[in-house]
Amino acid sequence: MKYNALRPRRLRISAPVRSMVRENHLSVSDLIYPIFVVPGSHVKEEIPSLPGCYHLSVDKAVETARLAVSLGIPAIEVFGLPGYKDETGSSAWDPKSPVQRAMEAIKKELPGLVIVGDVCLCQYTSHGHCGKLCGHYVDNDATLPLLARTAVSQAAAGADIIAPSDMMDGRIAAIRTALDEKGFQNVSIMSYAVKYASAFYGPFRDAANSAPQFGNRRQYQMDPANSREAMKEISLDLDEGADIIMIKPAMTYLDIVRQARDRIDRPIAVYNVSGEYAMVKAAAQNGWIDEKRIVLESLLSMKRAGADIIITYHALDVARWLSEKD
Ligand code: PBG
Ligand code: ZN
Repeated sequence: MKYNALRPRRLRISAPVRSMVRENHLSVSDLIYPIFVVPGSHVKEEIPSLPGCYHLSVDKAVETARLAVSLGIPAIEVFGLPGYKDETGSSAWDPKSPVQRAMEAIKKELPGLVIVGDVCLCQYTSHGHCGKLCGHYVDNDATLPLLARTAVSQAAAGADIIAPSDMMDGRIAAIRTALDEKGFQNVSIMSYAVKYASAFYGPFRDAANSAPQFGNRRQYQMDPANSREAMKEISLDLDEGADIIMIKPAMTYLDIVRQARDRIDRPIAVYNVSGEYAMVKAAAQNGWIDEKRIVLESLLSMKRAGADIIITYHALDVARWLSEKD
């Protein structure tokens, strides 16, 4: 063939042509918006490490959920800052804690909105680790019933999807069994199956006051060097009954998303985490980048890598941007 017969540029010639051959799309229906619920009422305070995100009391959380619905966002994920912390993290399953109260209020007012509950103990334990301690060791098996109890309390409060982020072994089976025993067969599990021990969670730990008081999370979260291990984590969680698997963080782990997409036939979520968000916000506030284009391109890359669902603090902005004509 003559060299000039091969012209990929032909299909880039105009916006309508480009739209016809576009392989991947970002849509508002891909998004989950995370919120942080705190005790009290009439509280809406901007989170310093996550500009544009807020600590919300239950009443304000309902308002924010209403806004998400009005923008077409199908789901929110609820995180909580409890009124009290102790050794075992018992406020995680307290039906009067902000998370459970917010779920109840949101479900009542907005029954069509999917409520995802983050299940972990680090926001609720005095030591900030994701499980029950035995000395300075996080005791895997002693943690499982506590996670199961937390999951059941969230399901009872109205959660549609339980999302365990603790990285204990066997937690999906423990949670599935407990949910089924209590009659919550239709509550799904979105497992943080592949959660790396990442520096990108820093702004979240400031926002959620959940940094470990000693050591780090490397004995339970994954080593960023590993990808075969990620595939193992995914297959274990699917075997234990996970409905959706999640990979976290997103942007620095898109190779893992692609490998997972090529192997499994279940929905894949990615978590565009706090550090990814904060870097974009900081650069945008300095006028160094075009925030809208950077965010849309970043999230599209997650779809291209194979993600079906994107959890992102940018969700409200993205929903607005996607509805604009450009
Ligand atoms: C709790 C949890 C964390 C995140 C989600 N759930 C923090 C952690 O593991 O320390 C991080 C989310 C983010 O950075 O946006 N285990
Ligand atoms: Zn945790």
